Amino acid sequence: MALRLGDTAPDFTAESTEGTISLHEYLGDHWGILFSHPADYTPVCTTELGTAAKLKSEFDKRKVKMLALSVDGLESHKGWVKDINETQQTTVNFPIIADEDRKVSELYDMIHPNSNENFTVRSVFVIGNDKKVKLIITYPASTGRNFDELLRVIDSLQLTANYSVATPANWKHGEDVVIAPAISNEQIPSKFPKGHKEIKPYLRTTPQPNL
Ligand code: BEZ
Repeated sequence: MALRLGDTAPDFTAESTEGTISLHEYLGDHWGILFSHPADYTPVCTTELGTAAKLKSEFDKRKVKMLALSVDGLESHKGWVKDINETQQTTVNFPIIADEDRKVSELYDMIHPNSNENFTVRSVFVIGNDKKVKLIITYPASTGRNFDELLRVIDSLQLTANYSVATPANWKHGEDVVIAPAISNEQIPSKFPKGHKEIKPYLRTTPQPNL
């Protein structure tokens, strides 16, 4: 059955450009982002991995471990990484899983046969530090992902996990957030000492709590 939000991210052991990785052990007490690529030596994937590498310090700040995957083999990955480093002026600084036997791709339902039988689509899984799946996004092979958006979503997920808030449409870091409906008005002063606005009884906002 396909993975759903709230499921425990299935553990696996796989070969990667940084050695053998077991997912749960690799994550430790961190969050994780697992993202698949259709194939090595392809143009969009090359730009994505370069962009992701340049943003590693942003993922580190949020205690998020990065993990990429494609169904090509390790030697192919190693050669491709050299190209990525050269053409994207960066150094790939996180592991890329070599999923030649498609074990991980199948476990995470990353191959969508009606799109392409042979390659993974561009799947993204964000995994919480409780090992639960917090976010699933799927892009087609032809659309490169927006890694700034992935960081924005992680900020939202971590605010929800730590402060019982949600984030409104188009929310950006620094803007007001929404108080979760489960929080009663009586709980608000102690939980949100920066104050709040009640626009409707069901729509209550407060300044971003972790700033
Ligand atoms: C790419 O990464 O450029 C790509 C891969 C598969 C199909 C289309 C584009």
